Amino acid sequence: MANRSMKSNALHCIYLFFILLFILVPMASPLEAKVTKSEFGSTPDGTKVEIYTLEEGALKARIMTYGARLVSLEVPDRSGKPGDIVLGYESLAGYTADPKSYFGSIVGRYGNRIAHASFTLDGKVYHLPVNDGTNTLHGGIKGFDKLVWHGREIPNGVELTLVSKDGDQGFPGTLTARVRYTLAAHALKIEYFATTDKDTVLNLTNHSYFNLAGEGHGDILNHQVMIPADRYTPVDASLIPTGELAPVAGTPLDFHNPTAIGARIDDNFEQMRLAGGYDHNYVLNGKMGVLQEAARVVEPTTGRILTVDTTQPGLQFYSGNFLDGTLTGKHGHVYAKHAGFCLETQHFPDSPNHPKFPTSELKPGETYHSITTFGFSTAP
Ligand code: GLA
Repeated sequence: MANRSMKSNALHCIYLFFILLFILVPMASPLEAKVTKSEFGSTPDGTKVEIYTLEEGALKARIMTYGARLVSLEVPDRSGKPGDIVLGYESLAGYTADPKSYFGSIVGRYGNRIAHASFTLDGKVYHLPVNDGTNTLHGGIKGFDKLVWHGREIPNGVELTLVSKDGDQGFPGTLTARVRYTLAAHALKIEYFATTDKDTVLNLTNHSYFNLAGEGHGDILNHQVMIPADRYTPVDASLIPTGELAPVAGTPLDFHNPTAIGARIDDNFEQMRLAGGYDHNYVLNGKMGVLQEAARVVEPTTGRILTVDTTQPGLQFYSGNFLDGTLTGKHGHVYAKHAGFCLETQHFPDSPNHPKFPTSELKPGETYHSITTFGFSTAP
């Protein structure tokens, strides 16, 4: 009798051991994102485009080689229900037919504006294409958002590479840009690298439009934004920085305390009138090159929270002012004014014409490197 119960105790111990093994081993090993690749059609000139799907836990991101764009990003709400929180299109044709919104793209060679479409570098004047009033916006008429990058799978994600030739859109030097999207620890990380064979300027960022209630779910005016920056770069009527670094204190641009985007958007403050809402570069308080929190956004109805961290010196907060209901995106959703917001981590706009701004120059032998993470959590 005693012998039999000893035997069954030993069996129990063995069972327990295996059960614990099955539970603990997967917990101890780091979660790896699953990465799959498929075809996503061809551009009008016949170039094939691929799309990579990254899945990690409850997060799912799709990134295509056209414009190195984030096509969709599924994030759970407070009840665990997933929702796609970035604006865009279901098919490639939607993206190639839309030159203006930059949905999900990597913009370059110089994201944001360069005044009067020219700059001087090493004593030489360079002329760029004009595509925004008298200025150059997001790298010119055929910027990095409209080129097909080369994709390759890497651990937890995808690396996209683009070689922009010397003279591309008027910029000097052959620039090799590499952008890595990875999913890990409840965050989408975007890491940028670039090298050049001649002195040049660059400003690479991601131009995703977020709506944390889900794309196509109304406007973003109720989202609560916190940006811990003390200063911003005021702009003129063509949204070119005046050169001043002005305090946000006492203005509708002060987001030290979480505030709804819509709370002060129509205030009678010149900067808001010039931009038709928020379209301003914040001067981040921390040291360039060191990862710091740049923004935190809470969507009250779904509880979704987005936290942006970056090594970049600036953050363009854009409240989707130019969306006007003429673009029909995913699932027939019409994107009206303020249907999404962008948080573009970046060098300051028009830096090549502002020697006092952090330099956007890159020289041969140097490697440009920056990191931005978009972290996700929920509020109760
Ligand atoms: C950036 C600019 C905006 C606008 C959008 C694209 O965010 O700052 O002014 O041009 O891109 O529409």
